[in-house]
Amino acid sequence: MITEVELPGVVEPDGLLLRTRETPRPGPGQALVRMEATGVSFAEQQMRRGTYWQQPPFPFVPGYDVVGTVVETGPDTPRPETGARVAALTMTGGWADHLLLDAGDLVPVPDGVGAAEAEAVIVNGLTAHRMLEIAAIGAGDTIVVLGANGGVGSLLVQLARLRGAEVIGTCSARHLAFVRDLGATPIDRSGDLLEAVHTLAPGGVKAVFDHVGGRGIVASWRMLAAGGVLVSYGTAAARDTGGLRTMLPLFLRLRLWQLLPNGRSTHMFAVWDGQKEQPSRFRAELHRDLTAIFGLLVSGAISARIARSFRLSHVVEAVTFAESGVAAGKVVLVADQD
Ligand SMILES: NC(=O)c1ccc[n+]([C@@H]2O[C@H](COP(=O)([O-])OP(=O)(O)OC[C@H]3O[C@@H](n4cnc5c(N)ncnc54)[C@H](OP(=O)(O)O)[C@@H]3O)[C@@H](O)[C@H]2O)c1
Repeated sequence: MITEVELPGVVEPDGLLLRTRETPRPGPGQALVRMEATGVSFAEQQMRRGTYWQQPPFPFVPGYDVVGTVVETGPDTPRPETGARVAALTMTGGWADHLLLDAGDLVPVPDGVGAAEAEAVIVNGLTAHRMLEIAAIGAGDTIVVLGANGGVGSLLVQLARLRGAEVIGTCSARHLAFVRDLGATPIDRSGDLLEAVHTLAPGGVKAVFDHVGGRGIVASWRMLAAGGVLVSYGTAAARDTGGLRTMLPLFLRLRLWQLLPNGRSTHMFAVWDGQKEQPSRFRAELHRDLTAIFGLLVSGAISARIARSFRLSHVVEAVTFAESGVAAGKVVLVADQD
């Protein structure tokens, strides 16, 4: 039997259900993976409110990414071998002690990297790395990272510093020291962000990474220097409402700013872009980028900032903690002990 966490509908965290069912058998091209670590992402804060635009119909098992060990493979599935440690980007399904995955989607986890550490850099590392590539961030650039204490934010700061960029990171007052420790200049997100950024970077910045949206997107746009890019990758401000009414004004605004001849640009980032249209390419790039990010972990160039780890059976506490505003870094779920 396997144990998994079901999100039955729009519920408070204590409405999450632990359920058991027969262990599924892998079919051709599939692997059964024993979960070692999975993550609590901001996406699940939206999913439990029914406001994540790509979520499946209720009920379903959440869990955006996972690290585990292959325990069985299907017919005609020579790789990865049983016993291999692997990582996967799943969007849903990760909150389970075992899960079936397509073998081609599994990326090897190098020796010497702990499961929770590897877990913390899957969706967050891919998102941060790719957005920095899109914005072409390099030595001498100054950027703004909103939510620099968060899972994605803490990696954006580290990866940008690795490229030689200066980072201004916004966060709530309790996380100022954490963000400074990451290597960014922290500013309190309860204040006037535009004024604070203009004081620190009077000529404007090369890029702003904005996962908040809402009215604040105008301030983010105004932070840019000539030639700068606003990378929008979330709508945290609309966590409780979601829907097209939230997305449409943001989308239209970004398109308009992009089209106007103002010397600045916008980009809407989604880590799943290309998965349906070009699946082979998507897989190849997933392998390439995640392997590179794991390499940075192994070398110590970046570190996984884990806010707290919880056992899978303590998922209610984990989700409550992730939504408390206290977390700095990634909230991780690990397997219950046998
Ligand atoms: N586009 C993509 O492909 C993609 C991929 C991955 C993630 N994302 C987005 O990236 C964001 C971060 O995800 P995560 O998993 O790293 O989340 P996380 O670890 O929970 O961190 C969330 C961060 O956002 C801040 N925050 C939350 N609500 C806010 C609000 N209304 N205004 C300003 N700041 C707010 C939090 O501040 P406090 O700690 O002070 O609450 C924290 O710094 C989410 O919006 C998520 O949807 C997008």
